[in-house]
Amino acid sequence: MRGELCVGFASVLSFVALLLLIFVHVGQINTSTVPRGIAMAKVNMSGYGQALAAAFNPDPINDLYTSNASAPIGVQAGLRQIYEFGLYSHCAYVNKTAGRCSNTTVANKFLPYDAVISDMAMNYSQATDIILKGTTFHNSGYLGTQSKAAYYLILLGSICTALALFTGVIKRTVAFFISSSLAVLGSFLLLVGAALWTVMIKKTEAVNDKTVTLGQSAIPIIMVSAGPGLFLTWAAFACLAVSIVPYMLSCCTFRG
Ligand SMILES: *[C@@H]1O[C@H](CO)[C@@H](O)[C@H](O)[C@H]1NC(C)=O
Ligand SMILES: *[C@@H]1O[C@H](CO)[C@@H](O)[C@H](O)[C@H]1NC(C)=O
Ligand SMILES: *[C@@H]1O[C@H](CO)[C@@H](O)[C@H](O)[C@H]1NC(C)=O
Ligand SMILES: *[C@@H]1O[C@H](CO)[C@@H](O)[C@H](O)[C@H]1NC(C)=O
Repeated sequence: MRGELCVGFASVLSFVALLLLIFVHVGQINTSTVPRGIAMAKVNMSGYGQALAAAFNPDPINDLYTSNASAPIGVQAGLRQIYEFGLYSHCAYVNKTAGRCSNTTVANKFLPYDAVISDMAMNYSQATDIILKGTTFHNSGYLGTQSKAAYYLILLGSICTALALFTGVIKRTVAFFISSSLAVLGSFLLLVGAALWTVMIKKTEAVNDKTVTLGQSAIPIIMVSAGPGLFLTWAAFACLAVSIVPYMLSCCTFRG
């Protein structure tokens, strides 16, 4: 009986972990309510027009942003206010709800600089290159490699989570041994994947310190922050890691 209770508890934990990971995977694949709300990282470009205005002073900045939510992205059709990055694509929003997403690709790279540059007119992208040179935000080589690696770790971690859940349902001591091994492996992969994303975002956030002074106040030109997807990944890791204990106990105590 105790064994059944243990494996039930472990199954609930790995089920929750799997559910959280499914949410992480659908983040930013389109702009409907749930995917829209989930991103690994967010970039707020609202203050950027003022930064350029200061750089180009006294020339005015015209048509940097577009307010057309359905304008295609990546073809210099105008900068958007908010960019959100998921595991398979990124979306650009003109306001809180209206935006457009890139095509989905497996192992989509986290390239905030490329995303914003490809939306703004050529003369602004040259100035942007100068303004952002030397920041991690601008370092697409580093961000590309890290985010690609993190994607595969999270994908494999998700597969381990699903397999741990399914093998845990088979009432055999050997199955519980496989479940606990998969839970150990899966939590390790999720831990490293989430850690890579956390480090990437922390380093990219350094760009938040770049400000432009307007009158009395300093306005950040770009605001980078972690999105709910990162927290969900950490939560999935925590659930799966905790499930290791009851899976291992089931392994020892279940006599089915
Ligand atoms: C983006 O930043 C601006 C200020 O620069 C702020 O007013 C706005 O609420 C931010 N948008 C989001 C979605 O965080
Ligand atoms: C917005 O962009 C779409 C796609 O390019 C275009 O068809 C539409 O006419 C644009 N709307 C406005 C108001 O410019
Ligand atoms: C966002 O923009 C879209 C298209 O421009 C518009 O239809 C919608 O009302 C806006 N939503 C908000 C909350 O401003
Ligand atoms: C996105 O996919 C559509 C349809 O498959 C294609 O026509 C378009 O060229 C793609 N865009 C990019 C940027 O790859």
